[in-house]
Amino acid sequence: TETSAESPAGFPFVVVSNRLPVDRQVHADGTLSFRTSPGGLVTALEPVMREADGAWIGWTGSADDETEPFEHDGIHLIPVTLTADDVELYYEGFSNDTLWPLYHDVIAPPAYHREWWESYVTVNQRFADRAAAVTSEGGTVWVQDYQLQLVPKMLREQRPDLTIGFFNHIPFPAYGIYSQLPWRTQIIEGLLGADVIGFQRTADAGNFTRAVRRLLGHQTKGTVIDVPVEAEAEVKSAKHRISRVRDDKLVRTVVAKAFPISIDAARYEELARRPDIQERAREIREGLGNPKVVMLGVDRLDYTKGIGHRLKAFGELLADGTVEVEDVTLVQVASPSRERVTAYQNLRDEIELTVGRINGDFGTISHTAISYLHHGYPREEMVALYLAADVMLVTALRDGMNLVAKEYVASRFDNDGVLVLSEFAGASDELRTALRVNPHDIEGLKEAILKAIAMPKAERARRMRAMRKRVQENDVARWSSSFLATLTTPSDGLALPKAN
Ligand code: G6P
Repeated sequence: TETSAESPAGFPFVVVSNRLPVDRQVHADGTLSFRTSPGGLVTALEPVMREADGAWIGWTGSADDETEPFEHDGIHLIPVTLTADDVELYYEGFSNDTLWPLYHDVIAPPAYHREWWESYVTVNQRFADRAAAVTSEGGTVWVQDYQLQLVPKMLREQRPDLTIGFFNHIPFPAYGIYSQLPWRTQIIEGLLGADVIGFQRTADAGNFTRAVRRLLGHQTKGTVIDVPVEAEAEVKSAKHRISRVRDDKLVRTVVAKAFPISIDAARYEELARRPDIQERAREIREGLGNPKVVMLGVDRLDYTKGIGHRLKAFGELLADGTVEVEDVTLVQVASPSRERVTAYQNLRDEIELTVGRINGDFGTISHTAISYLHHGYPREEMVALYLAADVMLVTALRDGMNLVAKEYVASRFDNDGVLVLSEFAGASDELRTALRVNPHDIEGLKEAILKAIAMPKAERARRMRAMRKRVQENDVARWSSSFLATLTTPSDGLALPKAN
């Protein structure tokens, strides 16, 4: 077995995700370096990684990159190479043009291509092989997201000694939609290779469990699924875990339940309290012409985010004369995403056409209706925008969680600002005092925007306080520790008589 040079016996804790938690920086002199990406997952896992001598397996984001394993900020990073073909078929194709639209309730039509599926299998096997090679005996592997759903089973086949977790960051659709997938059974079987399968919402876990019953007929009870054990090797190594006899058959018990992901809330508050960032927030408002109300949208430019619905509602309010362009401005940050996938190119054209129309129809020399920014920004600038925004618009048509909603709340230590939040974002299960909307209902959305604009200060504070409490208590550290606790502690009462 191949192991990384730093740790000849392998790593006891390994995270596997499509992307490594670093961004590649190309400097002026042509040299390359890596910078930790601002994502929440790495913040959550960094302390765990350091303590457990952990490693992270993933792709650097560039095709044909053969970077050797390296250490960054105290974490061992193990790159997996994707060829240009893999990027096209496994990443842009099966992951982002089949699974992504399918799992987001077919907002865009998923494409089903056998060559994409074959590539998905091949690349998942590559990730699984890497994890099998670098994890120490009896170690724990935590696999992330929809790009790698076959990895748990592939890994268990090679390394039945491992404890394997999986977390799905995006929704899991209802069976009526999921069943479109020609490879629906293989995916379910792939996931069931894990000991614990985490989802964002209780509804997602329920959809998955129903798919397991429909497709495989396994018995399920609440969050526990009984998976018959076939391989002899698995029987031996699974002994320490929650195996039991049911109708004379040995089964592994797999837990499928909700672990809503979160953010490093304290970090956002810390940034928001910085005088330079507050100054920047004032500067942003001034730059917009000091309107009475600043509204903000922050999204990856993705068709799941309901950006078009938001623009339609705002455009109609301007057309109605209900709001005036001098008084209300919308800042829309749309960060570039998956730019080689046709659905994303079409979306960009559509959004930019709409923004142009609205600005042309309603803007004046001194006031622009929509400040549209097709860029990504560092976290400091995002927090300044959150502080500058009286109203935050999160109108996703479907979203696993939506961390932007939580970031806004975490930043508003002044207990001010109004969050308009789609009920189709996972965050709405937790942020109950947001102004919750159905973004398909344009009239309802317009009313919610008007209500947000007019909301008295006391009500804003009451709603924001309740949301802040929730986000502060359930931060990302709590998310990872509760998942890992479930993963590594065999649940009492499930550990029935061990076979043999
Ligand atoms: C979502 C997915 C992640 C993904 C991210 C950015 O949040 O759940 O797995 O990394 O979008 O998308 P990208 O395709 O650029 O990795």
